[in-house]
Amino acid sequence: MLPMKIVPTCWKIGLASTFRWSNSQCRHSNAWSVAQKTIDGNLKTINDEGTWKKERIIAGKQGAHIRVQNSDRRVINFCANNYLGLSSHPEVIEAAIEALKTHGAGLSSVRFICGTQDIHKELEEKIAKFHGREDTILYASCFDANAGLFEAMLTPDDAVISDQLNHASIIDGIRLCKAQKFRYSHRDMAQLEDYLKQTQKTARTRLIVTDGVFSMDGNVTPLSTITDLADKYDALVFIDECHATGFFGKTGRGTEEYFNLPTGKIDIINSTLGKALGGAAGGYTTGPKGLIDLLRQKSRPYLFSNSLPPPVVATASKVFDLLARDNSFVEKVADNTKLFRDSMKDAGFNILVSNRHKTAKKIDHFYSGNKSIGRSTSDMSRLCGRCSSCNNYG
Ligand SMILES: Cc1ncc(COP(=O)(O)O)c(C=O)c1O
Repeated sequence: MLPMKIVPTCWKIGLASTFRWSNSQCRHSNAWSVAQKTIDGNLKTINDEGTWKKERIIAGKQGAHIRVQNSDRRVINFCANNYLGLSSHPEVIEAAIEALKTHGAGLSSVRFICGTQDIHKELEEKIAKFHGREDTILYASCFDANAGLFEAMLTPDDAVISDQLNHASIIDGIRLCKAQKFRYSHRDMAQLEDYLKQTQKTARTRLIVTDGVFSMDGNVTPLSTITDLADKYDALVFIDECHATGFFGKTGRGTEEYFNLPTGKIDIINSTLGKALGGAAGGYTTGPKGLIDLLRQKSRPYLFSNSLPPPVVATASKVFDLLARDNSFVEKVADNTKLFRDSMKDAGFNILVSNRHKTAKKIDHFYSGNKSIGRSTSDMSRLCGRCSSCNNYG
């Protein structure tokens, strides 16, 4: 028998016969049929536009080679963001198991009530050290980090100036804040400068917002120019480093390092633990202590969502230990990239990205599983046939 509190209201008031069950919930049939029509229309549009997303079911761990359900064949996986091949690394798995034993499955609490453990603080310190920043705040995902930053930091007196192709989570985060909003065309520095001029008198703080690496186009933000402009017009710079942290730049410190900018030149960095850094889940903001203090007080996804589970914290923490040990993972990515590109050429594929196309050439990073395998298929098609940096969509 159902406990009283979850008995549907319509049963309690004796109207069960006029309602019907759908998806195990009680719905008013007329209201539901109206909603169903809208849903069906949406689904049809998605299907007609050819953007229906099918999910392939992996039967096992993430890796360069995987098995998928209903197939006996081994599949080469080009689609993950497992850049360093660490999501199934034995030491990473062991660390997660150990944390499960010592710290439990989860906290059943948000951080500020009773959800902060020693391992959360340790991981935040490791991340801050890795990036050479004052402090770090963990989130359940980078989506949350992006959703929680702008609203907490900016007011209507401020302005946010954002690259048109920034990730969806940045777009949503900016929507939530009350700052004046400007969007410059993808990597268009002239337009960025126009907005910086335009907001000189109307905004107190100007924040330039960009992905470090744009994963869908395989190109890199012109960060040196952006920091020059920020210096010239006294603006702040934020970058999302989800597709850079851990493997981009000489020691994997990301886009700032790739451009040889001094550590700390970028004011705020958001990144994910769900790609190169173990691939489990989690995200973070790293930057000046005052900002991190403010986020702990005001950032809604941090305040009102459960703490990162200990095994997830432990996987990321182990990855930072592995990266601190030596630079071999980062170097292997570069070696594998070269091997893959050369082998693809030898196999007769036309790889258009040449020395002329510096940014895309640098961004065709391949993770360092035992064998060299590539990034996402969408990125591959761009790198190998439609390099956006050279506008060659042949
Ligand atoms: C550029 C960028 N930012 C943010 C995110 C969100 O990261 P997470 O998976 O940690 O929520 C992603 C994930 O796809 C991303 O590519």
